[in-house]
Amino acid sequence: MKTSTIEEKVIKCKYLYILVLLVATWLQIENHSLKTDIHLKAPIDTNKTPIVWILGGPGSGKGTQCEKIIAKYGFTHLSTGDLLRAEVKSGSDRAKCLSAIMERGELVPNDLVLDLLKEAMMAKTDEAKGFLIDGYPREKSQGIAFEKTIAPVTVIIYFEASSETLTKRLLGRAASSGRADDNEETIKLRLKTFLDNNDQVLAQYPDKLKRINAEDSVDAIFSQVVQILDPLVK
Ligand code: AP5
Repeated sequence: MKTSTIEEKVIKCKYLYILVLLVATWLQIENHSLKTDIHLKAPIDTNKTPIVWILGGPGSGKGTQCEKIIAKYGFTHLSTGDLLRAEVKSGSDRAKCLSAIMERGELVPNDLVLDLLKEAMMAKTDEAKGFLIDGYPREKSQGIAFEKTIAPVTVIIYFEASSETLTKRLLGRAASSGRADDNEETIKLRLKTFLDNNDQVLAQYPDKLKRINAEDSVDAIFSQVVQILDPLVK
């Protein structure tokens, strides 16, 4: 019987190694395409279920106003910041990379945010009276991708406040929020990321955009929000 030489064994091992690499790459590609190919169960009828984007700089009061909107209108609230923080807590493979990006005040990759949003919307499509999408889009391309793959936005509420006000509020919140990005250095970076992208985002939707002065008191701001949302609720 012929026994293989050491060289032949080494060559066989190399072939086996290449084969394993090819299979692993193929599995990764398959897994990625499954992950990015999330579809809603049924298209959202935005006449019955309005989609409201809540935009504004860090600390502009998006979360505060969303709480009041939920209490009055019972809308389903999806904050991309909250979804990302939940993903970080889950300890998934991508969690470490995500928390590093968020602590640098940068935007996490668009595909990932959109997938998280789609998954969350999919779970609520049947019961939602309306969707409050808080903190999305933060880049022009995010808005385009959302409308292409989910549904057209109904109205956009934008809370406008100066960088000084935003910084003051976030520093005020820092003592109790427990958020890794509520510190002076990261707040500066979050503001920069916001200012770099915001005008481009808003410029895309001149007809759907409603600006609200967010320097006012919480209740004064909410009374303006109500004027925008009441006509959407039949
Ligand atoms: P995210 O969690 O969305 O943070 P943010 O946009 O920086 O906004 P905040 O949640 O800090 O503030 P807010 O506007 O909700 O204000 P709040 O009501 O809390 O995002 C975090 C990170 O995740 C991002 O930096 C990014 O890395 C990533 N990310 C998120 N979305 C992404 C996306 N789409 N794409 C890519 N990456 C994404 O109020 C703040 C404080 O002010 C509170 O103390 C409140 O009590 C007070 N306050 C509120 N209103 C008033 C008022 N009218 N007067 C006085 N005080 C007020």
